[in-house]
Amino acid sequence: MGPADLTQLFSSFSSHDDKNVLVGFDTSDDAGVYRLNDELAIVQTLDLITPIVDDPYVFGQIAAANSLSDLYAMGAKPITALNIVCFDKANLTLEILREIMSGGKNKIDEAGASLLGGHTVEDVEMKYGLSATGTLHPAKILQNSTAQDGDVLIAVKPFGIGVLSTAMKADMCDDSEQKEAIEAMLKLNDKASYIALKYNASACTDITGFGLLGHLSEMSRDVSIEIFSSSIPLLSGSMKYAKMGLICGGSYKNRNFLASKIEMGNIDEELKMILFDAQTSGGLVFAVNERYANEAIKELVDAGYAKSAVIGVCKQKGERDLIVR
Ligand code: CO
Ligand code: CO
Repeated sequence: MGPADLTQLFSSFSSHDDKNVLVGFDTSDDAGVYRLNDELAIVQTLDLITPIVDDPYVFGQIAAANSLSDLYAMGAKPITALNIVCFDKANLTLEILREIMSGGKNKIDEAGASLLGGHTVEDVEMKYGLSATGTLHPAKILQNSTAQDGDVLIAVKPFGIGVLSTAMKADMCDDSEQKEAIEAMLKLNDKASYIALKYNASACTDITGFGLLGHLSEMSRDVSIEIFSSSIPLLSGSMKYAKMGLICGGSYKNRNFLASKIEMGNIDEELKMILFDAQTSGGLVFAVNERYANEAIKELVDAGYAKSAVIGVCKQKGERDLIVR
């Protein structure tokens, strides 16, 4: 059973016939969109993750930022959120749980959304995340599969989050590497979403578990995408730790699953693995007309996405979906 089987299973239960379902499961988009009236649609998403850092407050912040990101990837503004907590009563104190939820609340507040409640389940493995709802205008939805020939791709956060979090768990990172990786995960995609909308992005997604190439393969429905491997923004230390083999299992799965869709250039093995690296709370990647690229990057940098960069270009659909140069 792979990710494609799961998508197909979910899709088979989605409400295809309801004309108010503007975005359902069919395109593996980041969230679903439902039209309430001609001016207003709601966007709904659900995501939860296992602990990625030791500090429970920071874990709560990252998990919430990660959940809210799917709303931003669709161009929506978050309005409400519900907590989802799976916790192991035998190994976790109420104080730790309070820290996690307090971290989550901090990011919900930063997003300008309201926390309405939530649900807890006893489970052997700790997990936390949000079910979040946002709003947008039904004519202004950012989708992942609608990229246009000739548009360039802009990535807003550096890559290598999976490699760095594996290195952090092994206690190998120095303070500055750790700080940069955590800051990247904590950063909301709110302003990036605003900038993507402002410059009329033709497609947008956030980079999470399927890695850069996995999510770009969803973006390559109507185009082929050429990726400029030397322009990929990287977290400090990511090449070093990738070279040491600190690659999470999900990244190898991504590589095996995508192999037939990619024309892979002659690039360093560790950089290849970073292109497949599963990200937590990764950044948006959006497709935009080339003439807006410089302005958009300048605004992204001003908004705190210091390493945002043009990482590729959409081309007429060719033999392979993705071409890495
Ligand atoms: Co997503
Ligand atoms: Co998600």
